Amino acid sequence: MPRLHVNIDHIATLRQARRETIPDPVAWGLHCLKAGAHGLTLHLRKDRRHIQDADVTRLLKATDALVNLECSLDPEMMGIALESGAGAFCLVPENRSEITTEGGLDVIAERARLLEAVPALTERGGLVSLFVDPDIDQLDGAREVGAPFVELHTGSYANASGGEREAELERLLRATEHATSIGLRVNAGHGLDHGNVSPVAALPHMEELNIGFALVARAVTHGLEESITSMLHLMDAAGSS
Ligand code: PXP
Repeated sequence: MPRLHVNIDHIATLRQARRETIPDPVAWGLHCLKAGAHGLTLHLRKDRRHIQDADVTRLLKATDALVNLECSLDPEMMGIALESGAGAFCLVPENRSEITTEGGLDVIAERARLLEAVPALTERGGLVSLFVDPDIDQLDGAREVGAPFVELHTGSYANASGGEREAELERLLRATEHATSIGLRVNAGHGLDHGNVSPVAALPHMEELNIGFALVARAVTHGLEESITSMLHLMDAAGSS
């Protein structure tokens, strides 16, 4: 079964709606770990719309679990990532007007910056992944810049239905197979929920799923423990290799 990494940004979004100290995304993340999640993910955006710099520092002090810091290749964000001490980094594209990360990183267009960023973050002891669409060219590009991991963008799969969803799943399967054949390790995330997670959790070689919004939304109505444990049960029952 893949590891479940919970994205805590959405708790910070709620806090920032009132610029309050509650709900605290760090405390919430620690509850998720207690409920069985394997790690935590947070995205420090340049516009600081949800996670704040202090959240990154507090979370890293509060847990020994793997913390995955998502950030863009912007020089300010890279400086923060390099000094953070996070155990994992996921490099994502960022667009100020987007509601959430919309597409994968174009690793071919960003090749020059990635050739600097990937070794620099790796030297700091972090596992680096590149958030990419499940396209063969992007996977080859990720390999060429030396990233050990990719996180496959599952948004198109999650947004599709019927035959289109089947086609998107097939695309994820082909991407997973290609990635592993060229030595990349594979994570996935975006738009996954309790209704669509199973086929993705069952993909061979899938190491980690990053899930945020659906877990928070379900926790609001069903409680946090139930949200996390039911997701873990679905991932386990999916039976990935
Ligand atoms: N992975 C990445 C790279 C993301 O940017 C996000 C969204 O913050 C997620 C996973 C989680 O997506 P969701 O909140 O839709 O589960």
